[in-house]
Amino acid sequence: MSTWANLGLQDSASPLMEQLIFFHDHALLILVMITVLVGYLMFMLFFNNYINRFLLHGQLIEMIWTILPAIILLFIAFPSLRLLYLLDEINEPSVTLKSIGHQWYWSYEYSDFNNVEFDSYMIPTNEISTDGFRLLDVDNRIVLPMNSQIRILVTAADVIHSWTVPALGVKVDGTPGRLNQTNFFINRPGLFYGQCSEICGANHSFMPIVIESVPVNYFIKWISNNVNSSL
Ligand code: CUA
Repeated sequence: MSTWANLGLQDSASPLMEQLIFFHDHALLILVMITVLVGYLMFMLFFNNYINRFLLHGQLIEMIWTILPAIILLFIAFPSLRLLYLLDEINEPSVTLKSIGHQWYWSYEYSDFNNVEFDSYMIPTNEISTDGFRLLDVDNRIVLPMNSQIRILVTAADVIHSWTVPALGVKVDGTPGRLNQTNFFINRPGLFYGQCSEICGANHSFMPIVIESVPVNYFIKWISNNVNSSL
């Protein structure tokens, strides 16, 4: 999760987020190089002594400064497209989780397991325990197995919400009347926090997401307990 003074991206917990971080660093490096070059040229203009009163055109330099930026942009465009299609790839998911946005809480359904379903509300500040995270912890966490392909279906019941978990590289809009799909693979155990990121009303800030990533046998134990109590 994000903590104090963390202005960059969170540590990745999935292969896709790792790729997103690589792409971010790559794009930023190109951006820095362009900024330094253009900054240097603009600064040096102050000390320019060369003047040509009869200069009207320069075909060669205009060819260069048109084509060169286009080529540089390709170095961002191709990795970006690769990532775009990689994010959309669904890889035989072993668990499907349906997530429904409401004003202002999330509800979840495990459609593969007798449709185990529950609501997930933020714990209010005055009820939070001393080791809890204010505005981030919920009463009922999502439990998911690590090292497994997970499909997530996102929708909403009232207005548009957005199911966003930065450490997993997931951000999907929940839109009423539509069912959006994405997938991820959690490669370590832990708690992963997210928040709604579509301005959905007065309490938009207070519908966080908590994923508890556990080994597969723990997940089976948890889900069978819940299946039994829902029968
Ligand atoms: Cu739901 Cu913002």
